[in-house]
Order: sequence, then C-alpha cells, then structure tokens
Amino acid sequence: MPDVPEHALNESNNKINLKDYQPPSFNVDTVDLDIKLFEDYAQVDSTLKMVRQTAGDLVLFGEDIELLHIAMNGEGLAPEDYQQDAGKLTIADAPDTVILELSVKICPQTNTALEGLYIAGSGSETMFVTQCEPEGFRKITFYPDRPDVLAIFTTRIEADKRYPTLLGNGNLVEQGDVTDAPDRHYAIWHDPTNKPSYLFACVVADLDVLTDYHTTSEGRKVTLELYAKSADIDKCHVGMQALKDSMVWDEVNYGRAYDLDRYMIVAVSQFNMGAMENKGLNIFNTACVLSSPETTTDSRSFNVKAVIAHEYFHNWTGNRITCRDWFQLCLKEGFTVFRDQSFSADQQSSAVQRIDDVATLRAYQFAEDAGPLAHPVRPESFVEINNFYTTTVYEKGAEIVRMLANTLGAENFRKGTDEYFRRYDGQAVTVEDFLSALSITDSKIEKFIDWYRQPGTPVVSGHQHYDEKMQNLTITLSQQTRHVAGFDAPKPLPIPVATALFNRESGNIIAAQMLLLDQASQTFSFDNVTSEPIVSLLRDFSAPVQLNYDYQDEDLAFLLTHETNGFNRWQVTQMLVNRILLSTNDANSKPDVYLQALAETLPKLAHNDAMLAARLLDIPSPQELASAIHKEYDPVLIKQQREDLYKQVADSLKEQWTILYQQLPLQAYSDSPEALGARALRNIVLDMALTAEVAEATNWAQQQYDNASCMTERFGALKAMVNHQVAGYEGYLADFYQRFQADDLVIDLWFSVQASADHVSTDTIKSLLAHADFDWNTPNRVRSVISAFTSQPTVLWTPKGLDIYTGVIKKLDDSNPLIASRLLQVLARWYTLVEPRRQMAHEQLLDLQQHVSSKHVLESLDTVLGA
Ligand code: PHE
Ligand code: ZN
Repeated sequence: MPDVPEHALNESNNKINLKDYQPPSFNVDTVDLDIKLFEDYAQVDSTLKMVRQTAGDLVLFGEDIELLHIAMNGEGLAPEDYQQDAGKLTIADAPDTVILELSVKICPQTNTALEGLYIAGSGSETMFVTQCEPEGFRKITFYPDRPDVLAIFTTRIEADKRYPTLLGNGNLVEQGDVTDAPDRHYAIWHDPTNKPSYLFACVVADLDVLTDYHTTSEGRKVTLELYAKSADIDKCHVGMQALKDSMVWDEVNYGRAYDLDRYMIVAVSQFNMGAMENKGLNIFNTACVLSSPETTTDSRSFNVKAVIAHEYFHNWTGNRITCRDWFQLCLKEGFTVFRDQSFSADQQSSAVQRIDDVATLRAYQFAEDAGPLAHPVRPESFVEINNFYTTTVYEKGAEIVRMLANTLGAENFRKGTDEYFRRYDGQAVTVEDFLSALSITDSKIEKFIDWYRQPGTPVVSGHQHYDEKMQNLTITLSQQTRHVAGFDAPKPLPIPVATALFNRESGNIIAAQMLLLDQASQTFSFDNVTSEPIVSLLRDFSAPVQLNYDYQDEDLAFLLTHETNGFNRWQVTQMLVNRILLSTNDANSKPDVYLQALAETLPKLAHNDAMLAARLLDIPSPQELASAIHKEYDPVLIKQQREDLYKQVADSLKEQWTILYQQLPLQAYSDSPEALGARALRNIVLDMALTAEVAEATNWAQQQYDNASCMTERFGALKAMVNHQVAGYEGYLADFYQRFQADDLVIDLWFSVQASADHVSTDTIKSLLAHADFDWNTPNRVRSVISAFTSQPTVLWTPKGLDIYTGVIKKLDDSNPLIASRLLQVLARWYTLVEPRRQMAHEQLLDLQQHVSSKHVLESLDTVLGA
C-alpha cells in the first residue's frame, strides 16, 4: 500500500460521532472503591450497584489495567461470561439490577501519561495523584466511564505511612491503622453528591496544608485547605485569598453557594493542564496555584487567581450540572471561562481584563479557526477527545456566553442562569438545554445555536453613508465566514455589534446602540445626525469576529483619543498596527498617524492609567500576525517588519522613555492596581529604551535587576537584557539560576527566557533540552523550552528547528501523547509558509507520521496534513 502510511488512522473505525449518542443501558447508583497502594503497583477493588435504564449490553471501559477478578450478583464470572476487547468489557444479557464486584491491578509507578493514577515528584516528594477528565477513570478500574453516568462514590484509600496525606472527594468519614500491617494506614471518604467518574480524585502524599474558612451565604462553615510541599506552603496565600473571593463572588453574582463542608486544593508539579475541578478536591498544576511576589510575575499571579476562580466556579457549572457527552464540553468550559473572566474583570480594570482576553482569543483561537484544526465550539466527531480541549471550545465558547449575556442584559441573564440551575441541577445536559433555560425571557437566544455548530471566524465588513440633507447616517454591515471543509456551507450568524457615533468636532458620543447583524448583509439607519460622525464598532469586542470597516487611519487615531472605553482604545491601536503590517487595506498604511497618535496619548495616559498605557504599546506577536496570512507566509519578512515598526515606535518616542522611566521609580512591593500598572509599564519602557539605544538604558536594566523588589521587576529586567543581548547578560542569567535553583517554577522562567529569546539558535534549544534540569516527564519543563521556542518562527520553521520540534513530539508520543499532540497542533498552519519552507515542513510532518503511534498524535497529524 504505497500511499497510505503504515501508521495512518483508519478514520471510519475510530471516529465517535455526536449523532450516534445513545443513553447508557445501565446507571450506577453507588460505587465503593478500595484503592491500596504498594511499592510497585496498586490494587483497586470496587463494588458497583447498577440499575438498567434501557435495553442493551452492560458496558464497562478499562485501559492499561489487569483484571484479577469479576463477580456479578455474588457469582464469579469466567472469561466466557463477558467479552473483553478494545478497552471495553461487555456483559450481554445482564439482569436489571446488578451488583458488580471487580478487582484490578494497575501500575501508577510507570504511568507517564499523567492520566489515571500516577506518580508525581520524586524522592521524598513522591506523591500519588489522579487525573480522570475526560477518560482517565478507566485507567483506574473498569467502569461505565462516561459523563452521563452519575453515582455516589465512597473511597477507601490505603497506603504506607510514609504518605501521611490521604485525600478523596467529599467528607472524611473514617481513618486509622491497617490491622496486621503496622506501617500502613487508611482513610475513607464519602461524597454525598452524584457525580460522573471524570470528577473522581484521590491523593496520597506527604504535604503541608494551609487552612482557612469561609461561611457561605447559606450559613455553611466550609474548611478551605491548600496542600503543597512544605517549601511551597508560603506561596499558597494568594490562592487562598482568591478562593475566598471566588466563593463570595459566585454567591453574589449567580446565587451559588458551596455545597460541602470541605474544599481542598492540591499543588502538583507534574500535570498536563492548568488544573482540575474534581468534586471538593481540585488538583492544580503548581504553576497555577503557587504565587509569591519574590518568585511569581504579576501576570502569572493574576493567572493563579483566575484559575482558582475557574475551578471553583466549575462546582456549579460542570459538577452540579455536567455534560451529557464530551461533545458538550463547551457547556461547562465556555460558561466557566466566561464566569472566571467576569470575576477577573471585577478584580482589576475591566478594560485591561477585556484587552487580555481578546488578545488571547485573537492570537490563538483565531489562528485555530483559520487552519485545518478549525472545529465548531461543539464538535461533531472526534477520535481522541483529549484533542478537543482547545481554545475554540474554551475561549470562543466563553465569547458565545458573553454574547448571550449581553443580548439578554444583566437582569434577564441572571433569570436565565437561575432557571438553568433550577431545572438541571444534578443532571448531565446539552448545549440546547442551556440555551432553552436562558431563553425564558427572550426566544431569540435560541438562534445562537449556530455559533456552536459552525467553525470559522466570521468577517464583518462595512461602510457608512452620510446624507447631509436628510441628516441621516446609514451603516451597512455584511458577514462572511469561510467554508470549512467537511461542514455545511456557513449560514449568517446573529452578531451583536456594539456601536457608537462620535461627533468629529466635540469628540462626544451622539448615539450608542447594539446592532444585531443576523443576515448576510444589513443596513442600519440613524436619523437626526447633524454632521458626519466617526463610527466606533464592535465596542468591548461584542462578538468574536474580524472587522473590516472603511476607516481612514485618521478616524482610528481620532478614536484612540476620544473613545471612552479603554478596551476600544486598545482595539483601534491594534487595527492601526495591523493595517501597517498587513495589507488589509488597499495601500499599506504608513506608521505616521499611529506614531503621532501614540505620542499624543501616551504621556497623559501613563500618568492616569499605567496599565492601559502599557497595553496600548502592544504589537501583535509574530504568530498572531502569521494567523492573518493565508499564503506565502515569510517568517523572516514578518519578523523584520514587526521589528522595524517596534523600532520606529521606540525611536519616535525616545525622549518619552527617559521621562517615563524616571516617573516610575522602583518601589517597595505592593499589589495595588497602581503598583501593578507601574511595573507593567516600566518593563515595556525599559525594553523600548533599550531598543531606542537610550544611553542610560543598560544601566537601568542592571539596576532594576539588582534592586528588584519582586519577580515582575527582576524578570522584566532579565528578559530585556537577554533579548537585547546587553553586555554581561550571561552573567545575569547565571545569577538568576543560582538564586532560584531550588524553585522549579522560577527555573521554568529561566528556561523560557532563553528559549524564546529574539536571537535564539537551534544550538541553544538543544543545549537547554540537554540541561541537567531538563525533565521530559514534567510538562511544565517541556513547555518552558519547546513552547517558548515557538515564539521564534524564523528559527522554528527551518530544517534544524523543525527537526528538534518534531523530535520532541516523537519522543513524547509514547510517554505522554496528550502533550505530544498539543505541541503538534501548533504546527497546523505549515501550509501557509513560503517555499521552500512549506515543502520542508510538509516532509517533516510526513516523516513524523512514520514515527508516531498514539491516536492523539495521529488524529492531529491527519487533520494537520489534510490542510
Ligand atoms: N477541566 C479542566 C479545566 O478546565 C481542564 C482539564 C482537562 C484538566 C483535562 C485536566 C485534563 O478546568
Ligand atoms: Zn474548566
């Protein structure tokens, strides 16, 4: 078979389709688990009380486990009584009520995929932890491991006393010594809430704990516990405060209070994702929970708070109401991301929060939607569900909920969410259910279902016409979405376009309105408009679309100074930059208008709102710019153009940098919004000053590093010195390593600042991968080098660069296919490259196909190669 690579997937055999959904034939009422950990294996005994729901076989899933014993209703089953193949154990003709007893053996010690029960840490820091979402529970025991099977879990955990911490979901009901085994002890946990198996968790470790309390609006006193290794316990205070803030926020904003007496969070150094919302027992990547001023940058610390909130909010949106099947993943993720974004917006400037969320969406989700991995927010088929934890499901999913919330208005949105919780509490539901609850006050909400079904980013184009005699303004908007192969021809979507008209003379808003564009093309009319206004569109990014409007650069500059909302001011800077760097308008825009507008805006804004001022200097990353280029993408050219523009900004405002840097002196650490803003702006000013070759800038950088009061200052200075190769920067890198050698998360920063450096070479990447502290089994460390490296496309898209990158994928394909596949997805837009890079990338991907075997990587590769 010449053309079909040996390892290619047989799609039709492996695809799971939404349209084939069938409810389970059996539900589980209760599960009793007994997990015994030994030196080199674990034994898991379980008793499942099952009740028939519909006709059909009794099906359990199980992977990488050894079945020791199985009995049904008290009688041992022989191999001929059931069928076992392809990860399934099937019992035909089971009676209507079944008590299944199972005994299995698993090996957490060799589990490098970090799914199921696995080991994290090493030596005295070794711990056992679980990760079950989406389909990890089937690596712990045979079980109907699907989200629409909800059961009451009781878990007994037994281990050596070297591990004093034994944690499970729910309430601790008993603990003690194991009779006849003086070195061993156990704990029994009971979770009173029905839950799907993906929310199961247990932890066996030796950890310290930070404890606090929260009394809910319903009067329940909840014990809050953050578990971490003793050296990290001081870094748990930020997370604890965020947890308490989140609990109050959900009570106030959604009327949702916590429902158990205990809420636990465990920090784990080896974790594939950010964190996991297991019922009452969240498991967190250390990077998403630990934070201290000395070791954590402000932006990472902010992320810690957001992730804590996200996982906490899942207790209602995800756990109490869960997903019927994994196609509905956005039901819990989109809504929960929207909720954590709203929480974060209440903790800082809401404009800056919106800027950061939109920047992420545009950089990653728009890129995904523009390439072969494009899929609907609710996908219709998959081979490996782990491949669908994407920015489309999460971030575009959140944008849809935001459109729903804005369309309904605060009061009706709250009525709708109240109805959602009232109707579906304790159930596993669908996106349609969600929309039907939200639409109780307004039936047009149901029209948004197409946003969940249709891939691709809509492009909204428009122009205006002013009739002076009639004092009338019309705005014509049209929408277009690319037709993604394999999907129906795109339909027009309901697109809310927040619009304001500005009077050119006074600079004031004369009308503001939410336009709903729900046809291919529409004209909106405004009367009593006395002079031709400047129109501001898509304010606050009212829909996840790309906007092309026939602005003059001067109109955008006008909006930069007159817009009342900080987000909208940022948005016009991004439009200006894009017009300069990408020829989206007929003639390339010249930077003059942009530079002039910045010069006018920056000094005052730096004074009033330093954080926003810092954002207005944003120039999209090379990857984000690349996502707008659909053919003959030349990474060298883009890098050059981007750097030229950056240099022009730096040079044209050269005097400003000196003034600003001096206005922003280093101060004792504070986490006030002013201090955060000053630090963010100072770091950018420093980089600009180095770019403009301000004479004192090198000095400033060195002093900022030496006298830093916190990691934001120290790392900001280090990064600037590394990127500008300031004389002696190697010495600062060495110092940084020495200072923080014992702290993995800081050493991750040390790796990433080198791997993402503007001048990085493939030799540097190789030597980082060969460094004694590099560890293939720690996803954070792998990402600190290899994901950081992707920020330099000119080096990545070379034979040597891709060789390293695909080499990493080959290496991880077997040990951690989930991470391998996620790394691969970053290469999705290889086909847009200019020759000979395109051809070279194609060959490397074809070669990769011969060397991988996980279905995770094969599915992604199939899609990526299909471009
Ligand atoms: N459900 C987790 C979250 O969004 C993410 C996750 C998915 C973690 C799969 C682990 C595995 O909060
Ligand atoms: Zn989530």
